[in-house]
Amino acid sequence: MNRGYPDRHLIVIFGATGDLAHRKLIPALYELERHSQAKGRATIMGVARAGISDQEYRQQVIDAMKAAGETGPEVTDWAHRAIFFQTLGDQGSAAYQALRARIEELEQSVGSPGNRMFYLALPLPAFPPTVEALGAAGLNKSPGWTRIVVEKPFGRDLDSAKSLNALLHRFYSEDDVFRLDHYLGKETVQNLIAFRFGNALWEPIWNRDRIKAVEITAAEELGVESRGAFYEQAGAVRDIIQNHLLQVLGLVAMDAPAGIDGSSVSNEKLKVLKSIAPIREQDFVLGQYAAGEANGKSILGYRQETGVKPDSRTETFAAVRLAINSWRWEGVPFYLRTGKRMAKKTTKIVVTFHCPPAAVFNPYIVCGNESNRLTITLQPNEGFNLAFQVKIPGEGMRLHTQEMRFRYADEFGKLPEAYQTLLLDVMRGDHTLFVRNDEVEAAWQVCEPLINGKSEVYVYPAGSWGPSRTDAIAEGGQHSWVNQ
Ligand code: BG6
Repeated sequence: MNRGYPDRHLIVIFGATGDLAHRKLIPALYELERHSQAKGRATIMGVARAGISDQEYRQQVIDAMKAAGETGPEVTDWAHRAIFFQTLGDQGSAAYQALRARIEELEQSVGSPGNRMFYLALPLPAFPPTVEALGAAGLNKSPGWTRIVVEKPFGRDLDSAKSLNALLHRFYSEDDVFRLDHYLGKETVQNLIAFRFGNALWEPIWNRDRIKAVEITAAEELGVESRGAFYEQAGAVRDIIQNHLLQVLGLVAMDAPAGIDGSSVSNEKLKVLKSIAPIREQDFVLGQYAAGEANGKSILGYRQETGVKPDSRTETFAAVRLAINSWRWEGVPFYLRTGKRMAKKTTKIVVTFHCPPAAVFNPYIVCGNESNRLTITLQPNEGFNLAFQVKIPGEGMRLHTQEMRFRYADEFGKLPEAYQTLLLDVMRGDHTLFVRNDEVEAAWQVCEPLINGKSEVYVYPAGSWGPSRTDAIAEGGQHSWVNQ
């Protein structure tokens, strides 16, 4: 891992007037400017089709910071010092030549040595033409380093991901490409590596001999909000399972990497993804939320949301049981589940251990799923709970399930935002928390049976835990989903 000061550089954000730039990138860049080794190292150029001036864009930046809860002279000073804007108008080759000229001129005036980060905060269909146009304008090379950041979703399926990879490799080496999955930047997700491999306790029991099942749930209370039109093209599998949940699964299930560098970690995650058995129809359930109720308020169904077709078949929920064919995991089911408009916002990993092999406490004790369980809460209320059996003090041998709890907030206070971590890593050229080309393709391969459009999409009421049918894939009662 490169942990030094980043070089002086220029960040060119495509889609600079969009939601991602305003809500995530701008606040993260400001935070880096204030509290990190990147201070004073980045000049930022917003790029979009809009014909607005530097001054108008700076105002957008100031407004975005206000929405993020930051105002005052420091913000204004940063906006005026470090932020610029270039219109792309019709996005023709002249517009890209003008962009190149502006980049060179700006680098000269601020004394930046030609290191460039191009951040594509763009909808998927805009990726290929932008990569082509950058290449045609010679902006894939520069006097210093050139790095390109591509947001998820990376493609729509295996074929489109392969084409996108091939296109990127026409202009950039893999070392210059940063496929961003913001889950990997979350502290709790990074900590999976520290937790598993920084302690000798877990590794000897982290396998089929001791673990009965692993569940990974990412449940959201929110619906699709203003993103109905985008979501119609995506759905829960493309939006969350193919990227966020399979990446988390990779970190939970991988073998110890040779080191904490990008290629060692990617090699291990790739092995996991490649060992996943083909998913069969009986292994998954897709769902779509209908009107329902939460916290005493009625909620619209997905088909009534703006931008959504009234007869849409897009899934807003997916649950799947995976088998990993490896020495470590043979026979251990991995349950993945995600959904919008669920009963509660929670992202967690639940590792259920086997019961003790001999029932010495019978007839008083039945070892239940809850009693031998490690829960890693990725968000919110980040932390761990380890549940085990203890004797209830007093007469007789009566057991009780007790939890040991750790909460990040008690120990460390507020956690940094994922985008801060990831942007700083791109500035430093560190790939550890990014997704490699072969990983992204292997993840699409896993998801192919889920996205062929042939499966039933079951309705569930908004504010619930998904279609009741989801229990059916939990192996006839062998596992019950953790709905809390
Ligand atoms: C994004 C998805 O990648 O992740 C959104 O496109 C989803 O649909 C979001 O809401 C969830 O992120 P987080 O960090 O709130 O879990």
